[in-house]
Amino acid sequence: MLPEVLCEIRSTLCTWQCRVKKRVTMSYTLITGASTGIGQEFVREFARRKCDMVLVARSEERLQRLSAEVNPSGNLDIHVCAEDLGDPDSPGRIYDYSVQKGLKIGLIVNCAGFGFAGDYTSMPLADLQEMVQVNVAAMALLVRLFMPDMIAKKKGGIINVSSVSGFQGVAFLGLYSATKSFITTLSESLHEELKDKGIKVVVVCPGYIETGFHARAHQYPEQSMLPVSEPSVVVKASIKGLYKNRLHVFPTFLDFLLVFLQRFLPRSTVLKTASFLAPLKL
Ligand SMILES: NC(=O)c1ccc[n+]([C@@H]2O[C@H](COP(=O)([O-])OP(=O)(O)OC[C@H]3O[C@@H](n4cnc5c(N)ncnc54)[C@H](OP(=O)(O)O)[C@@H]3O)[C@@H](O)[C@H]2O)c1
Repeated sequence: MLPEVLCEIRSTLCTWQCRVKKRVTMSYTLITGASTGIGQEFVREFARRKCDMVLVARSEERLQRLSAEVNPSGNLDIHVCAEDLGDPDSPGRIYDYSVQKGLKIGLIVNCAGFGFAGDYTSMPLADLQEMVQVNVAAMALLVRLFMPDMIAKKKGGIINVSSVSGFQGVAFLGLYSATKSFITTLSESLHEELKDKGIKVVVVCPGYIETGFHARAHQYPEQSMLPVSEPSVVVKASIKGLYKNRLHVFPTFLDFLLVFLQRFLPRSTVLKTASFLAPLKL
């Protein structure tokens, strides 16, 4: 009986020692949009890689369930920071949360986002404002808030989830593709600005991915000629791209090809093709 109890105490002490050591030396990966789809897959992959994390999305319960699922032994230090990125003050609160808890953010994965497919005039004004706030402003603010700490340490990484739709306007998907252009352009600027400061900036540009995104956006990828890939394809390509410090990451060869071919085509053809490949049930 006594040896068993001693063994249990020793194992608990080891776990705590390990956690304290990690907190002092290791950095955390902050993932927005962590509750479902691509963000959730990022969480699973980083858990497999034994990374400590801060998970952000609105659905606290989903994040807690995911945290318990990927960390059954409790060896990883995973924090749930439930926030609505549609609130302009949320990036500041996320930064304050990490400072108060002493969590040093070494990698940010900006994955939260949503789309709206349809006639521009039919887009509710509240959705328009929310999309600009979540897809654009929250991403830009989070990067701005955490960047100084990374620069001071001469180490860090940023993965911004954009889209192939950010390389040109797409009819009936206008605001969404504009928000993704913003993400791509800001990432390009930061990649160049930070490359000598030890910070890697990657912008990942997927095509259709099998997630709940399309239901929320009222988009129907199954009617497109383009294939629909698994979220893991995006995550694996992003992490590989981060290691190699690639600026643009295209998860599939087709994503790369669609963007590459634009160099040889008139803009009007590019725009027609993009709208043709983004089928909508209007
Ligand atoms: N699926 C595709 O075909 C595709 C293609 C290219 C790019 N992308 C991009 O990939 C990213 C992830 O999308 P997904 O496909 O994984 O879709 P998804 O399953 O709908 O995931 C969207 C994520 O964003 C979070 N989110 C949405 N609004 C939020 C808000 N106001 N505050 C905080 N979090 C919010 C959601 O969490 P809560 O609802 O819990 O808040 C969820 O975790 C998006 O940026 C999207 O633009 C997707």
